[in-house]
Amino acid sequence: MCGIIGYIGYRNAVPVLMQGLEQLEYRGYDSAGIACYDHKKADFILVKEKGKLAALREKVGDFCFDAHVGIGHTRWATHGEPSRVNAHPHTDASERIALVHNGIIENYDTLKKELQRKKIRFVSQTDTEVGVQLIGRQYGKTPQKDLFEAAKEAIPKIHGYFAFALLSKDHPETLIAYKRSNPLVIGIGQGENFVASDVTALLPYTRQVVYLEDDDLAVVTRKDVRVFSLKSHSWVRRSPVTVHWNISQARKQGYPHFMLKEMHEQPEVLKNILKKRITKKEDIFFDTLPRGFPGRLKQIEQVYMVSCGTAHHAGLVGSLAIEQYTRLPCRTQVSSEFRYGNPILSRKDLVVLITQSGETADTLAALREAKAKGAATLAVVNVVGSTIAREADAVIYTHAGPEIGVASTKAYIAQLATLLLLAFYLGKLRKKIQTSQLKRLIKDFKKIPDQCSKVLKEGKRFEACAKKYFSRRNFLYLGRGYNYPTALEGALKLKEISYAHAHGYAAGEMKHGPIALIDHEQPVICIAPDSPTYDKMISNIQEIKARDGIVVAIGSQGDQNLEKIADDLFMIPKTIEVFSPILTVIPLQFLAYRVAVLNGRDVDQPRNLAKSVTVE
Ligand code: M6R
Repeated sequence: MCGIIGYIGYRNAVPVLMQGLEQLEYRGYDSAGIACYDHKKADFILVKEKGKLAALREKVGDFCFDAHVGIGHTRWATHGEPSRVNAHPHTDASERIALVHNGIIENYDTLKKELQRKKIRFVSQTDTEVGVQLIGRQYGKTPQKDLFEAAKEAIPKIHGYFAFALLSKDHPETLIAYKRSNPLVIGIGQGENFVASDVTALLPYTRQVVYLEDDDLAVVTRKDVRVFSLKSHSWVRRSPVTVHWNISQARKQGYPHFMLKEMHEQPEVLKNILKKRITKKEDIFFDTLPRGFPGRLKQIEQVYMVSCGTAHHAGLVGSLAIEQYTRLPCRTQVSSEFRYGNPILSRKDLVVLITQSGETADTLAALREAKAKGAATLAVVNVVGSTIAREADAVIYTHAGPEIGVASTKAYIAQLATLLLLAFYLGKLRKKIQTSQLKRLIKDFKKIPDQCSKVLKEGKRFEACAKKYFSRRNFLYLGRGYNYPTALEGALKLKEISYAHAHGYAAGEMKHGPIALIDHEQPVICIAPDSPTYDKMISNIQEIKARDGIVVAIGSQGDQNLEKIADDLFMIPKTIEVFSPILTVIPLQFLAYRVAVLNGRDVDQPRNLAKSVTVE
């Protein structure tokens, strides 16, 4: 939610900021803006515009800059409507400092009233302006116009979770950056340095990054980066790490949308995961588990899967696999309910936090709650070095590469694969899976990447289906067992990018309500691959047909029942039930994608959404 970029160095700052914002636009697209210090004019040049980055780009073209330092922002509105005046950067009353912000200032109202009593005039409705005015007031009091000192004094008065980047007119040779529970990384260059909400914005320039920790206040110049911890009240060392992603992974590479490109990357992602996780001796290996953690896993008596959105659906699949292969009870909850639900936890519990970004606010809060209660915490994360990856007791990376499309596709597949491997690993560790059974599972798993490619190749067939139904406003998705979460995920995909209403249900629940929806206009997507509950799915499908409903079925190759009764049918290669969600979700991704395109939707940046939900 909101993207921050900052640059200081020898290049023209404007293209660097604009390129950075392009990479970060998936974080929010309500408005965008930049503030640069123009050396010739010895002043800020502030350009902001409502709407997507394209609007800002047009506006920036009207200005002539001589700037080698600046900050930029792309906004997902929380406080104040999307408008030019609410767009960042914001300046203080003296207009000597500019600030960009990601996150929420929770006590903004109290602080605003205090500042207004001191005759400070506000021009926007944002909480951000409260932050810059507060720091600005402090700045006015510092003898040398010291932005670092001002930020150091003012920030502890601010409640909430946020990240800032700041620039002053008086000392344009320095950028200030601050992080509290919202992501912020520093890119280390040669004679130049960068600040960004995530590493994808830095990839064209550097792969050396410093991940700031909570309450870090960084002083960034062309030549160096120093970090002061507001927690320990001392200067601290934060070592740079090398990022292994590359810039081409974060580009569309000829695809019309990131979502489509990311869907096509799924077989490679799976191959890569299996290569990394399966040893020559056909065992499962997680390189990042700290010593002693497997020992702790042996003692666990209960598992929780905690996550949001698509990651929650992966958690539901993972939870079934954990129960099946370890016989440990496993509960699945969305992070927002878990964190406020006063969960009963002890050292005997394992809490698995699943997240693509590693920054989702509710999942981060859930992690902290679980840690505070003594549970073992394991993060299953895509973004290396993200807050959740760093704060959990242990992390397993999903290695999906950068995912830019707001609708999660390859990250979901990677979460599924990783959680299944985790279930098998725990099963083996706790002696619930024999070596021979593990070998058989691995053998089947190794077929999945090619089977996934096959499904992708036939994806075009879904275009015809999408053409038939794209103007419908209601869709029902049904599944059972391991494919009940697939029904939820298919429905989420469709609604988030096409804006049609879609509801996922456990098929057995159909008769308890949703059957009332069925008539000759109601498409019902039935996920019915080979499984122990296949016959039950067929009965559900018959019931839908008996009421004149439209059945779009996903089944296993060679299924003649489905051939006879389904209005539209998509076959996946045969596999055992536990692996089927990896294959059945692909046609549903295609369906959502095509319906969205046919409706003229902005597939990669659907309205109201942001890729990484770093506010509650
Ligand atoms: O980064 P996370 O995996 O924690 O994000 C969780 C959800 O916000 C995310 O999966 C969201 O539901 C996606 N837009 C779904 O496509």
